[in-house]
Amino acid sequence: MTEQKKSCTLERAPYRDRVTQEAILWFTRMKQANLDFIGYESAEGPAYFERFTHNHDAYYPYHEETNLIHSSVAALEEDVNLSETERLVIVGQGPWTNCLNKEGQIIRAIVERSHARPKSVDFIEISEEFNAQARVGMHEYAKELGLDIRVRTYTGEFEKIANNWKPNGQTTVISTGSMIGNLDNAVQEDFPQAAVKELMNAFGRIAGRNGTIILGYDGNLDEVSNKRAYSSVDLSHFFYNMIWEIHTNSHGLSLRYLDDEGDYQDITKEQLMNGEIVRYKPVWKGHQIQHHLEFLVPVEMQADFKNPDLLRIADDLECRNKINGGLNFKTGSSLVAMTSEKFSDQDVSNAAKTSGLQPVKAHKDSNTGLCLHTFRVPAITA
Ligand SMILES: C[S@@+](CC[C@H](N)C(=O)[O-])C[C@H]1O[C@@H](n2cnc3c(N)ncnc32)[C@H](O)[C@@H]1O
Repeated sequence: MTEQKKSCTLERAPYRDRVTQEAILWFTRMKQANLDFIGYESAEGPAYFERFTHNHDAYYPYHEETNLIHSSVAALEEDVNLSETERLVIVGQGPWTNCLNKEGQIIRAIVERSHARPKSVDFIEISEEFNAQARVGMHEYAKELGLDIRVRTYTGEFEKIANNWKPNGQTTVISTGSMIGNLDNAVQEDFPQAAVKELMNAFGRIAGRNGTIILGYDGNLDEVSNKRAYSSVDLSHFFYNMIWEIHTNSHGLSLRYLDDEGDYQDITKEQLMNGEIVRYKPVWKGHQIQHHLEFLVPVEMQADFKNPDLLRIADDLECRNKINGGLNFKTGSSLVAMTSEKFSDQDVSNAAKTSGLQPVKAHKDSNTGLCLHTFRVPAITA
């Protein structure tokens, strides 16, 4: 068996620049719900996410989606001729253990039924840590399946990577875990048609002509099970870690809190992780969970304008005046760090059609509202 492994990090602004930019946008409320990349790309975030998905039984988008894939593999094969797949592309695979339990089932099914046998698998992730895990994990899994396959990883946003993508061979693209539900901004409308259309365009470009797409997303509109799914200490830590990253890994931004004596003090990691500075709260908005961080004590964001990188980024955003002198947050005020959108398959089908894709079938789990949705890219439009 020969195996070629390749990794590629597309040009992106350095992490510290992006953390600074997003923190400014977030603290000034110019943008809400845009911190998720910090969760997945920071040193500790990937492990918090993995622990949360595994330990928290009520997190159905992991546990029940794994079961839904198991019960749907044969039907997926019928929908989109999985067995003809020559190239697999997995987008936002997350921790390797998650990917093995979800996409791994589909890979095994393709290999077992395949006429063509897949020749390559590409992973696209914003988290280099998850890509590193996939390179090792896929190597092992290929050995177990007796598969001679080329493994490549791309680190960056798939929407951007899609712009320079060269389709090659009969391709199946898979994305699970409701990645498409974590939108950049906390939208108000029931269905963010334009944003989903953009995502579907990107999936279509990656799949290429005659390509197929399998998307796993969440359509659960039940408030109680939604809140239960996101109420977990590990998930709280995932969010508190984002604040610690801003405090320690931005250019010239730091946080202080007002103590009982009326003096401002630097926050410590221990206080943050103990939930003494901010409190994570999943808030149900009818069609989305908003992941709120509520200030439990008065907090001040300081901006050090002697830091040239902070100045450069604030000027690029044309908002130096907004943060000059710092920002204050009262006890009880809150900011949205991330959203998890819940989609109906009808809305996703309509958005896909406007992107030139053909929806094939929505396999829904009646207990949870999870959906595995298949699409085809027509031969002529891609
Ligand atoms: C909700 S998690 C799902 C992880 C995994 N598929 C699962 O089901 O457990 C979303 C994953 O997508 C990745 N991700 C988020 N935005 C992305 C983007 N624009 N392009 C590529 N990957 C992205 C994150 O790093 C994270 O691993």
